Amino acid sequence: MNNALAQADHAVETLRAQRQDDYYPQFHLAPAAGWINDPNGLVYINGVYHAFYQHHPYDENWGPMHWGHAISRDLAHWQHQPIALAPGDDYDKDGCFSGCAVDDNGVLTLIYTGHVWLDKVGDDDQVREVQCLATSEDGVHFVKHGPVLAPPEGIQHFRDPKVWSQNDGWWMVVGAKQNGLGQARLYRSKDLRDWQFDRVLDGAQTLHQGYMWECPDFFPLGEKQVLLFSPQGLAAQGYRHPNRFQSGYLLGHWQPGADFDVTRPFCELDAGHDFYAPQTFTAADGRRLLFAWMDMWESPMPSKAHGWAGALTLPRELTLNAEGNVLMNPARELAALRGLPQTFAAAQLHNQRQALAENVQELTLSLDLAASDAERYGIAIGNAARLYVDNQAHRLVLERFSEEPGLCGCRSVPLPAGDTLSLRVFIDRSSLEVFVNQGEACLTSRIYPTDGRRGVSLFAESGRAQFGALQGWELESIWA
Ligand code: FRU
Repeated sequence: MNNALAQADHAVETLRAQRQDDYYPQFHLAPAAGWINDPNGLVYINGVYHAFYQHHPYDENWGPMHWGHAISRDLAHWQHQPIALAPGDDYDKDGCFSGCAVDDNGVLTLIYTGHVWLDKVGDDDQVREVQCLATSEDGVHFVKHGPVLAPPEGIQHFRDPKVWSQNDGWWMVVGAKQNGLGQARLYRSKDLRDWQFDRVLDGAQTLHQGYMWECPDFFPLGEKQVLLFSPQGLAAQGYRHPNRFQSGYLLGHWQPGADFDVTRPFCELDAGHDFYAPQTFTAADGRRLLFAWMDMWESPMPSKAHGWAGALTLPRELTLNAEGNVLMNPARELAALRGLPQTFAAAQLHNQRQALAENVQELTLSLDLAASDAERYGIAIGNAARLYVDNQAHRLVLERFSEEPGLCGCRSVPLPAGDTLSLRVFIDRSSLEVFVNQGEACLTSRIYPTDGRRGVSLFAESGRAQFGALQGWELESIWA
C-alpha cells in the first residue's frame, strides 16, 4: 500500500487511542481522531453511501489535507474506512482539497482539488489549484490519475469541483476567485478527463458578495435550479451574515447550454453558529440530501484538547415549498436510531422552570405563540444552551453559554407567521440542531456542556407559556 496512506492511517490509530469522548458525537459523523472540515465525495454507489471529508490525520488542527472516508448502507449507521487520499504528488503536494464523487458506470470516481502553496505555507495569494481525478475498483482503495483541469490565466483560486451527469455528458461547477471576486464556473466533459469551459454561472459584482465562492453545488429542486455555495467575505449586517463565513443559495432556472437565470437573491441555508461547506447528493430513491461541516472557521473548538476536531451535520433532505423556499429536514433514515418514544403532557408554565428529561437526543415540541405572553420561553439544554421565543424581538433564539467567550452568544430567526411554532431538536454531546416548522428554518450550533449534562427543561420568564405535548427519543450510536 501507498506509504503516505499507511502512515496517515497509523497516525489516526495512535491519536484514537488517546481520544477523550466527552464531546465526541454519538450520532454525527466525526473523525476517528484528528481534524476534519468539509464533507466531500458524497455518493450512493453499488448499494453503499460514501461520505468522505477533509481530514488532517496527524493532529487536531487543519493541516495538509487528506480525504477521510466512512460508509453506510442505511444512512444511519456508519463505519470508518482507511484514508482514501493523501497529498504528496507534485499537483496535490500540499493538500487534497474538497471535491466530489460520481458513479462512472459502477466505478467510484473522485474529483478533487490538488492544492500547492507557491510561496509560504498559508499564503493564500500564492497558490496553484487544479482539479484531479482518482478512481477505485473496490470502493476502498484509490488510484490517482492526476490533474484533469487547470485554471485559465487570471484565476487566483480555483477549487471544490462538484460534478454530475446530465444530457449524455458530465458537468462540473468549480469555485473561483477572479479579480478579487468570487464566482462559480461551469465546465463540461464527455469522459471526466477532458474538460471544456462552458460559462460563469454567477459571480460577485462587488466585494459585499464575496471575495471567494467556496464549495459550489448546482442541482435541480422541484421546478427550480439551486446554486449552493459558501461565499467568503460577506459583512455582517444586523441579524444577517453573523458568522465568519456563510453558506447559502441562489434560486433560478437553467438548462444545459444556457445561462443561469437567477430569480431569487442569496439566502442563507442555516441560521446557527456552525454550518459551512454543505454538499448535496442523491439518495437511492432520488431525494436530494445534504451534509455540511458543523463548525466554523476560526471558532474555538474545545474538543481539540481531546484529540479530535470537527463533525458533520445530520444528513438532511432538501425540498422546495409552494412559496419557492428551500426546506431542510432530517433524512427520514434517522428514525432507525430511535429508541422507544417518551411522551410528556402539554404544559402551561408561569414564571417557572420545569425539568423534563435527563436523556433525550431527539425532541419534538410545539409552542402556542398566541396563548403565550412570557418575555422568553422555550427549552434549556443543561447549562450549555437555550432555545427560546423572544417575544420582544419576535424571534426564535438559540443561545449558547461557555466559559470560552468566543463560544457565547445568540443566533436567531424570525418567528413564523402562524400561531404555532413546531420544533424538532437533536441534542448530541457537543451539538444542537433545530428544525423549525418542518424545515422552514434551521439553526445548527456546536455546544460544549462542561459538566456533560444535557438534560432538557422547559422555562417561561416574565409571563406564561403554553407548550403542546412533547415527544422525546434516546438515539442509538451511529458507529457500528
Ligand atoms: C472550505 C474549504 C475549501 C477547501 C477546503 C480546504 O471550508 O476552504 O474551499 O477546498 O476547505 O480544507
